[in-house]
Amino acid sequence: GEPSGKPALTLLVAAPRGFCAGVDRAIEIVERSLERYGAPVYVRHEIVHNRYVVDGLKAKGAIFVEELDEVPDGASVVFSAHGVPKSVPHEADRRKLDYLDATCPLVSKVHRQAERQIEAGRHIVFIGHQGHPEVIGTMGQVPDGTMTLVETAEDVAALSFTAEDPLAFLTQTTLSVDDTHAIVEALRIKYPHIVGPKAEDICYATSNRQAAVKQIAPGSDLVLVIGAPNSSNSLRLVEVAERLGTDARLIQRASEIDPTWLDGVGTLGLTAGASAPEKLVREVVDRISEWREVEEHTFVSAQEKMVFKLPRQLTD
Ligand code: F3S
Repeated sequence: GEPSGKPALTLLVAAPRGFCAGVDRAIEIVERSLERYGAPVYVRHEIVHNRYVVDGLKAKGAIFVEELDEVPDGASVVFSAHGVPKSVPHEADRRKLDYLDATCPLVSKVHRQAERQIEAGRHIVFIGHQGHPEVIGTMGQVPDGTMTLVETAEDVAALSFTAEDPLAFLTQTTLSVDDTHAIVEALRIKYPHIVGPKAEDICYATSNRQAAVKQIAPGSDLVLVIGAPNSSNSLRLVEVAERLGTDARLIQRASEIDPTWLDGVGTLGLTAGASAPEKLVREVVDRISEWREVEEHTFVSAQEKMVFKLPRQLTD
């Protein structure tokens, strides 16, 4: 047909991107709880770090709180995908609250490893980002003072354990694959006897999304990452692109795109963090198509088939 007059843009869409199995499961737990128990269902912390998802569940009757003291007696409460310290289910039991745990099974696996290492008499060095709810949850699996957080190789250099101290390391699930390798390497050099998981605890979804960005970033003039500013795995995707020398920006919604960002951009990369719904990806493509004649290509760097079972209370 007629040329549109809009300048052409090649769009490289990364795959895998967006929702992981843990996020799918967490959202389904809230939705099924609403169906089973009726509104309101309380959710402790954002179920996943995405405003659009949280607002959608609010509209269906979910009430988001930060701590259990905001949950009234007799109510149902869901714990978020990031996991919670042991004190949270203990408090819920004490208050006889009906609770469902939407902690991602891959995070729960790290929790169990932490307990096992403490039982084996080791001190744990935990690689993670201070203040992230997953880190608070994992550190809250073991007695105070038995786990030390490190964020960088410099933090490892500052550790005062001796090479003979019994040590183990574990990691947050949503870290940078490359940074974590370097930190683990520093740990193994300083503490040759340190015990750790065979592969790091970085989850399949985090590593696949980082690997996918590595495929599209070198050929792109700009990479857009759809995700929230408090989403660890999304922030890592921005870093991965930037380290390959490509400008990258984190956006929550299409409305945040400033059209001037696309000035001089012939090839745009696009991906989404594990908590960002595909609907937001389509919204971004539609928005960009208002300004540019978009030729879309999907780069598939891995297939994902992971599905996690729902808690038994919801499937009986
Ligand atoms: Fe779980 Fe990884 Fe998603 S830890 S919630 S599968 S980003």
